[in-house]
Amino acid sequence: VSSLRADLEAAACIGADERGGVSRFAWTRELAQANAWLMERLSELGLTAELDPAGNVLGRWESGKGTAVLLGSHLDTVPNGGRFDGALGVLAALDVVRRLRAEGVEPRRPVWIASFNDEEGARFQTGMLGSRAFCGECDLEDWGGRGIPEAMAEAGLDFARLAGARRVDEVGAYLELHIEQGPVLERSGADLGVVTAITGMLGFRARFVGEANHAGTTPMEHRRDALAGGARTVLALRDAARERGDMTANVGVISAEPGGFNVVPGAAELTVDVRSPSPETYAALEPLVRETLSAIAAEEGLGLELAETHRKPPVALDPGLQDALEAAARDEGATTLRMPSGAGHDAMVLAHHVPAGMLFVPSRGGVSHSPAEFTSAEHCELGARVLARAVRALLG
Ligand code: GLV
Ligand code: MN
Ligand code: MN
Repeated sequence: VSSLRADLEAAACIGADERGGVSRFAWTRELAQANAWLMERLSELGLTAELDPAGNVLGRWESGKGTAVLLGSHLDTVPNGGRFDGALGVLAALDVVRRLRAEGVEPRRPVWIASFNDEEGARFQTGMLGSRAFCGECDLEDWGGRGIPEAMAEAGLDFARLAGARRVDEVGAYLELHIEQGPVLERSGADLGVVTAITGMLGFRARFVGEANHAGTTPMEHRRDALAGGARTVLALRDAARERGDMTANVGVISAEPGGFNVVPGAAELTVDVRSPSPETYAALEPLVRETLSAIAAEEGLGLELAETHRKPPVALDPGLQDALEAAARDEGATTLRMPSGAGHDAMVLAHHVPAGMLFVPSRGGVSHSPAEFTSAEHCELGARVLARAVRALLG
């Protein structure tokens, strides 16, 4: 008999990388393997399993009438990620259906499970492409220019059919169980977190252009070092975020061209990710990034190209579902903390279309997006049991 623990173990083996983590990216063989594995589990539970035009795996228990209760998360990961981020929510959804089946429940409305594609956006700095397509938010012009059509074609999917992934109109509520990915819940001592709101995220790809030249013969005052612009960006955004307090800033990828130890970098490319849960601060993030980088470019004598890669405003989760999750936790004997999420989630896309709720389990040491990510089996199982209770309540 399968169980949540066994499923977590099995899923972690798919796309296991040499550095002790998990690497499963959108439209790759590793994610396709995980999807195939999931579709088998869905079929075993008697759900109709399909891969939709965006590469989302959808399992449908068509029962009763009305809109579906959708449970979901994602199976893709960041590079060298952990085994819980995303996977827990998908596998807990399976566990909920397994429990309802074992109890002989005949749901009065459909129960669906989604494993959304490309939540992390690791390959193309997209993020939540699958849930956005599911919600009819296809940004075809942007996505078409990033190599996504080619990647989809390699996976046997047709970019031109992406809009066909829209199914949100058949959904009445969305619930997602996830690891917190930060230290707040563990430090609070509460068993579970009920998420009140999700932070807003804004991303750019920046390219500083200077002049490649000889590292030894070019006097320091005459260099136009593109990587110096990149380095100053890292520190300037860090300082701005520290000063402001209610935002984060991260440069996670940086590269220099042509990349020689004895060549002054002629170009430098970096990613910028800035976030805030406060709508006011979120609105100030774009001017902050643009002004900071423009000033650096001017001072360093560099050219600057700045392209937006992602924009997801902060969103509040449904108060009724927060209450339902809290009540389900109480009935399960668990303590809860109401808290915002600093990580992005598919729920922040769904929340603009249907009532959405999220439940957190603690992350040991607050570590995530790392192979060291860990949540105890007891916490995972408690989360799944509370999710099952909340679903029963939604089914009436
Ligand atoms: C997704 O995990 C994100 O918060 O970037
Ligand atoms: Mn993640
Ligand atoms: Mn996640």
